[in-house]
Amino acid sequence: MPRFSTSVSALRSSAIRELMSLASRPDIISFAGGMPGNELFPVDEVEALFKSLDLKAKQAAFQYGPTPGLPSLLESLGGFLERKGLPVKSNRLLITTGSQQALNILGRAFVDPGDRVLTEYPCFIGAIAAFRSCGAEIVALPVDEEGIDIARLVEEVRRPDPAKFLYITPYFHNPAGLLYSSLRKRQLIETLQGSDIPLIEDDAYGDLWFSEEDRDRLQPIKSIDPEGIDICYTGSFSKILGPGLRLGWLLAPESIWEKCELIKQSADACSPSFSQVIADAFIRSGKIDSYIASVRQEYKRRAACMTEALRKHLPDYVKWNEPKGGFYIWLTLPEGADATVILKHAIEGGAVFVTGSTFDPDGTRNNSIRLSYCNNNPEEIERGIPIVANAIRKVCG
Ligand SMILES: Cc1ncc(COP(=O)(O)O)c(C=O)c1O
Repeated sequence: MPRFSTSVSALRSSAIRELMSLASRPDIISFAGGMPGNELFPVDEVEALFKSLDLKAKQAAFQYGPTPGLPSLLESLGGFLERKGLPVKSNRLLITTGSQQALNILGRAFVDPGDRVLTEYPCFIGAIAAFRSCGAEIVALPVDEEGIDIARLVEEVRRPDPAKFLYITPYFHNPAGLLYSSLRKRQLIETLQGSDIPLIEDDAYGDLWFSEEDRDRLQPIKSIDPEGIDICYTGSFSKILGPGLRLGWLLAPESIWEKCELIKQSADACSPSFSQVIADAFIRSGKIDSYIASVRQEYKRRAACMTEALRKHLPDYVKWNEPKGGFYIWLTLPEGADATVILKHAIEGGAVFVTGSTFDPDGTRNNSIRLSYCNNNPEEIERGIPIVANAIRKVCG
């Protein structure tokens, strides 16, 4: 009998997976995936960019590279992040294999089995899995429409055994769709200052805003660069180029970066050079800006279509957020409603979504539903939302 580690024993597969496998029927409309529509990928642009590279650059794409990232990409990505106001020069940048790897590395850098870490409730499932795989005890603090509950955060900061870090997704949260207010970010900064609790700021969706009006609220906390907080800022090419590249990044203070670089050496030596060469050319050609502008418009169109359908079909007792960007709408159902039962009815009807308990570190609270609109055309959204609404009515009345 093999003797597995304690940390792997703590990992659990979602009970939803089985149900989801029923949902692979070709006719089913999926609001489940948090991935861009295949038809939106810049296939022709990337093909032309690769062709235009000289032989040396093409060869480098097949080769191992330095662990922190290809120097050319570190430079071009550094410029891209500096344009957002991020303090690239006073920190260090690490290219990672998706930002999921950055979360894993940070977990390994800070967490010993049994250590407490703070997240939001609800919380991105990939972060729950990454931190739990290091044996973390996850303490999830609730969010409202402006961000994390500051009173609860103050309580946590004052504990004699404070948590190892706080992880948040302030810009078009996955799954809650929320965008932090500037006030809440300021309160969060004041609470963490001098606390010795580093902040992990996950910004996977910040480029996908729908309105110029919200640009102020999108200023990363990392770019405010407050005194007395170590901020580890993570980002990704997944939603602004393609998740198949498996490329993300971590911008962190030197002392944290050094530990993370060592961990990455042992994890995969380097992120895919091929993807790095493509991402570098994509940034340097300026195509990244025009591409982001075009997908922003498309996601805005899809979000508008879904909100219109929700307004038309959902019962009034379902509360939900009007998305300002990103991929998700979070439905809150009456207390006690079971989203798994609703999902069964929805699958019978021909639509699928992700149940709320997936995003609860305790795996219990299940009176919520995550819908994503990123992967569906308006026609599918108009057909799929009434199926979800009927399933909700069947269960909640
Ligand atoms: C909030 C958030 N962070 C990080 C990731 C990880 O993305 P990737 O590993 O593809 O960069 C995702 C993916 O869906 C996400 O939603």
